[in-house]
Amino acid sequence: MDWGLKNRLARIINPINGKAVMLAVDHGYFLGPTESLEVPRKTVRPLLKYCDSLMLTRGVLRTSVDANFPVPIVLRVSGGSSIIGEDLSNEKITTSVKEAIRLNASALAMSIFVGAKYEHNSLVNLGNLVNDAEEVGLPVLAVTAVGKELEKRDARYLSLSCRIAAEFGAHMVKTYYCENFEKVVSTCPVPVIIAGGPKLEERKALELTFNAIKSGAAGVDMGRNIWQSKYPVPMIRAVRAIVHGNSNVEQAYELFKKLCSERPAPQTTPSQQPRPPQQKPTSQPKQNTQQRPQQKPQKQVQQKIKPKIQTK
Ligand code: R5P
Repeated sequence: MDWGLKNRLARIINPINGKAVMLAVDHGYFLGPTESLEVPRKTVRPLLKYCDSLMLTRGVLRTSVDANFPVPIVLRVSGGSSIIGEDLSNEKITTSVKEAIRLNASALAMSIFVGAKYEHNSLVNLGNLVNDAEEVGLPVLAVTAVGKELEKRDARYLSLSCRIAAEFGAHMVKTYYCENFEKVVSTCPVPVIIAGGPKLEERKALELTFNAIKSGAAGVDMGRNIWQSKYPVPMIRAVRAIVHGNSNVEQAYELFKKLCSERPAPQTTPSQQPRPPQQKPTSQPKQNTQQRPQQKPQKQVQQKIKPKIQTK
């Protein structure tokens, strides 16, 4: 693999443990101002220091993320349909590789729609994007099965989609968790990362994360289950504890509750603030949760992690 491509990939997936915590905030490209992502800058800012990379469009990157903050960018470069349009699968490449380089993206992301009306176009888009991206050493993340295709959320369909994405040259694939997820991972020759999907109760979202990692997923590219939580920072830290810290569901949920009890819920007045989830008095969360340390703009700091596993 080309040095530049390998190096960029290492910014997204930690080469030491093979794991990644990506924060997905690209939803607006077809959903507009999604709940809790109405003002992207406000949503993203407190979470930045806890993700390994940020997945978004160029519009939100330019307007809502501080260029001085050294977070690796996974740039969504496909689109062209909206949630109220005729067919979500009708996408084209909308952002050029040249623009991605100008924005210092570490990887490109685009959707494929296997089994949908515009399956053919989306797959050809992927092949062409890989051709262009590899010219300049940029890895490509193929996002499978969004919109209506999400209804087909089973190992047979997701294996088919992920495998096709890999065959077309995607360097990473993002899909949804399903039962028998081991099959999806084992039949896909590139790392498989899960999306979180629609908002779940936090413990359930942590369970989903844990089960995906246990089944061989390389990490998460999670959106709604983080920033639609009333406690987004505790949530991303708990997810991180599973992906990078080997925490189990109980440990991660205890960490979540502990962190919730230490902070008020954001974006509410005191009288509206929900009570933080009750923490078990006897159980202490595991401490080696590999949260990213506090990062100041313009200064990248080493992450506090287990000695064996080094992340950015
Ligand atoms: C969908 O097209 C986008 O790529 C989202 O980023 C993706 O679905 C992940 O977000 P969530 O965890 O909210 O499902």
